[in-house]
Amino acid sequence: MFETYYNEIQNIEGWFGINEARLFYETINKLKGIASMVEIGSWCGKSLIFTHLISTYNGNNCKKYSIDPFLTSKDEPNGKYEIFTENLKKYNLFEKITHVKEKSDIAGKTFNDDIEFLFIDGFHVYEYVKNDFEIFSKYVVENGYILIHDVSSWFGPTQLIYDIAESSTDMRIIDFKDLTVLMQKVSSLTNEQSEKNKYFENLIKQKIETNKINLIK
Ligand SMILES: C[S@@+](CC[C@H](N)C(=O)[O-])C[C@H]1O[C@@H](n2cnc3c(N)ncnc32)[C@H](O)[C@@H]1O
Repeated sequence: MFETYYNEIQNIEGWFGINEARLFYETINKLKGIASMVEIGSWCGKSLIFTHLISTYNGNNCKKYSIDPFLTSKDEPNGKYEIFTENLKKYNLFEKITHVKEKSDIAGKTFNDDIEFLFIDGFHVYEYVKNDFEIFSKYVVENGYILIHDVSSWFGPTQLIYDIAESSTDMRIIDFKDLTVLMQKVSSLTNEQSEKNKYFENLIKQKIETNKINLIK
């Protein structure tokens, strides 16, 4: 089943490796459908379509959001909105998702819904990705999942994961595949989970050294 969905999205422009896609697949299959699913940063819809082909197959009728202003870092249209729309319509998903065509910091001012699955893949500058995490993780229910993309390829998400691994008391880092880190919100970390976060803190440090990204220490 995984292969069928992964093959479906191969012709869509975007960044989504096979190992991180498998991580998504396994996580989406664990969802209880008790709160919404949110994606920040959708581009042409590659990860969004993959996510909701699976959630739809699972009969997960939760509210689904995509937040993307379809702008470049210079605030000019990135030219992907029409392609995004066309791609989602092709899979009968456009109407099933609430589209918030705004920057995530603006969207975050009025967003008010519980979240069970949050994927952050918007503007990768540290202050922005940190803000996305701080604003939207507040709405994530206990045992809900957060996935962050471009860890080890961009400074912003990499530093954010380093911060979380080093000092969070309620985020349990579960896995890191391709460029995606998966974590789960918990009431408090057990000793074993703290140890695992330490492991990821060290792993991120090694990736940073290999990729020559400068972290704020
Ligand atoms: C790396 S792409 C997302 C890739 C997508 N997840 C995929 O599967 O191909 C980043 C996206 O973030 C969007 N973006 C840029 N600034 C943003 C902001 N302030 N808030 C939310 N999204 C933003 C861009 O329009 C772009 O579509």
